[in-house]
Amino acid sequence: MTVTQPAELVRTGLDRVDGPLKVTGAARYPSDFSFPNMAYAALVRSTIAAGRIAGVDARRAQAAPGVLAVISHENAPKLHRARRNWLMPAPAPPLQNDEIDHYGQYVAMVAAETPQQASAAARLVEIDYVPGDALLTGDDPRAKARSNPYFVDMKRGDVKDGLASAEVTVAGTYTTADQTHNPLGLFATVAHWESGKLTVHDSTQNPFLVRDVLAASFKLSKDDVRVLVPFVGGGFGAGLRIWPHTILTALAARTVGRPVKLVLSRPEMFTGVGHRPSTVQHVRIGATRSGELVTIEHEGTATASMASDAPYPITMGTIAAYACPNVVARDKRLRLNIPRVAHMRAPGEAEGNFAIESMLDELSYELGIDPIELRLRNYAEVHPQTGLEWSSKALRECYRVGAERFGWSDRDPEVGSMRDGRWLVGYGMAGVTFGHYQAKCEARATLRRDGSALVCSGATDMGTGTYTAMTQLAAETLGLGVESVEFDLGDTAMPQAPQAGGSGLTVALGSAVHNTCVELVRRVLDIAAKDEGSPLYGCGIEDVVAEGGRIVRADEPSRGKSYGEILTGGGLDELTVDGDSSPSRAEMGVLVGSIVVSRLGRIGRRVVGRSNAVVPAGAFGARFVEVRVDPELGLLRVARVVSAIDAGRVVNEKLAASQIMGGTVGGIGMAMFEEAISDPGTGRIANATFGDYLVAVNADVLNLDVVFVGEPDPDNPIGVKGIGEVGLVGIAPAIANAVYHATGRRIRSLPITIDQLL
Ligand code: MOS
Repeated sequence: MTVTQPAELVRTGLDRVDGPLKVTGAARYPSDFSFPNMAYAALVRSTIAAGRIAGVDARRAQAAPGVLAVISHENAPKLHRARRNWLMPAPAPPLQNDEIDHYGQYVAMVAAETPQQASAAARLVEIDYVPGDALLTGDDPRAKARSNPYFVDMKRGDVKDGLASAEVTVAGTYTTADQTHNPLGLFATVAHWESGKLTVHDSTQNPFLVRDVLAASFKLSKDDVRVLVPFVGGGFGAGLRIWPHTILTALAARTVGRPVKLVLSRPEMFTGVGHRPSTVQHVRIGATRSGELVTIEHEGTATASMASDAPYPITMGTIAAYACPNVVARDKRLRLNIPRVAHMRAPGEAEGNFAIESMLDELSYELGIDPIELRLRNYAEVHPQTGLEWSSKALRECYRVGAERFGWSDRDPEVGSMRDGRWLVGYGMAGVTFGHYQAKCEARATLRRDGSALVCSGATDMGTGTYTAMTQLAAETLGLGVESVEFDLGDTAMPQAPQAGGSGLTVALGSAVHNTCVELVRRVLDIAAKDEGSPLYGCGIEDVVAEGGRIVRADEPSRGKSYGEILTGGGLDELTVDGDSSPSRAEMGVLVGSIVVSRLGRIGRRVVGRSNAVVPAGAFGARFVEVRVDPELGLLRVARVVSAIDAGRVVNEKLAASQIMGGTVGGIGMAMFEEAISDPGTGRIANATFGDYLVAVNADVLNLDVVFVGEPDPDNPIGVKGIGEVGLVGIAPAIANAVYHATGRRIRSLPITIDQLL
């Protein structure tokens, strides 16, 4: 049986197995769960950004119709703080003291008979604030950027020497805006207690983290908390953490002794589930006249909230992207009285890529070298920081295939030279070197006498296709049709899976499903191999193939037995096995406790001594954009985008292409529309609705072409690379570079607004 590496890319476009459930409304999202005797909760949010609460007057709220409880720090029971997990510190438990550190912080919660009664009463809770001196913008002289606490600054060579040897230098400062995840599904929690055990339906990408933090908060054993999330209406990283509203909903349910449901409002989504922080980046690149990079300096500063936040790696990608001998990459944080920062699709890396890929474009004009050619001259054949081989890399093919499909050769390099009527036409491109984070993952597989299989793991599907891809991988390994395989997820009662994040779930879960199904075949084969009358007598796993619901001899495929026959012969109705997957030897980030280090294999000296060490490569990509600019009106349109992506083996081309398109839409939003604007006086977010916060809509997204190149990656048994985030990366610089080509204006500040184009 071939259980190592698929011989070729499998590019089937199986429809989503959960599609019918979704279009018929049968898919149950967290807010769809209801229980008899359920109550509803609503939140009261702080209207100051810093200070303290002098008092809470809950009398009017308490007396309002239907109100069951009003909880504030004045009467909340003690909640315990969870230990930090590998990814980030646990949030401080809510409503434990009188301190306010951001606008929108929860200061009270109301539970009532109906959602309307709860929100009406929430407005009656009177909070007496003592405003403090809020630090709201980076311009404030008291604001000080500090070194990133999560990982050391990265460098190689000597940038001073590099600068001295540079014949051409370009430098610039880039800024990006605060953005909010805005999944369509409003985050919701439904909590109920039974005999001291807590069950929670929660919008999350990380149900085991939610379980662990809830268990710690209420001093329960992990086994006494169950978190379910069979469907989640998008996440983009907002669901990687547990947020205070989840803990508060569980607290409300315990307080009123009934199940409680809370659905956040859209404005609450802007302050309560994290955001992409604004950044300021300084970049300096030195090169020879012939376009050899000799030095890159990249410093990025992201805003952060006053509470501890997770790592925010702006400059991480810079280390791995090009074969430049002298590089320094520094990340800083600037703490402000703003809502919590979270990871949002390619967190930091999308911003860092914007700065570097824009700066390289400037350099290409300085040198008179085509932007693709400039990147090829500095192609990182090996991982440039460690000198180790990539597990696989097809970035060169991304450039070539993408350029061909786009028609890059039609580009007149002269700025402002291409026109279509009143529109200036611009072509721009950007390269992407990305990574994925693979964590340990478990799965369980059951084979039944009727030749059907049930496979499960407590992972989540954000809507991107986990159900479907895992069904396909299980079916393939077991040699069954997809209609005979059911894949289930979204429940902490199932084997433990990591977060759907870091672009790592398909790698981790797919490998676990594969390994578990291989083990299942092996166990079934064991039964037949002991049977002297069986054609499989004496066979080991390497002697057989699983196909068509049967295990057959590899040397003589007509001889074999069906799963049903073997199980029946063994006197079994079904057979269940547990299995797992672990990051490969090279996924060393785990050792040093940082997602950052593992993602791009900045494993430095620690593993260089290991034989056969390779850097587990994530996805690579080349993004090509055509824009139209009306210089009189300052209008910018993205006419088309071509994305060539090395995603390793593509399990389902239809879903994978959708992923890249979705990321591209996010990239267009980042480049042209999205910006959460805070009132510099109060810290209130002024545009916290879908009416005011602009996202890309259909009219902004015209023609997206996606092509996959590359080969199965040997770093994992299924050959895949994570693509959850790479689709967003590179779009913003490709657009900005196209704008420069069209207009001669170098835009270094996102989003690109009309005023910058007039
Ligand atoms: Mo993503 S920011 O890893 O959900």
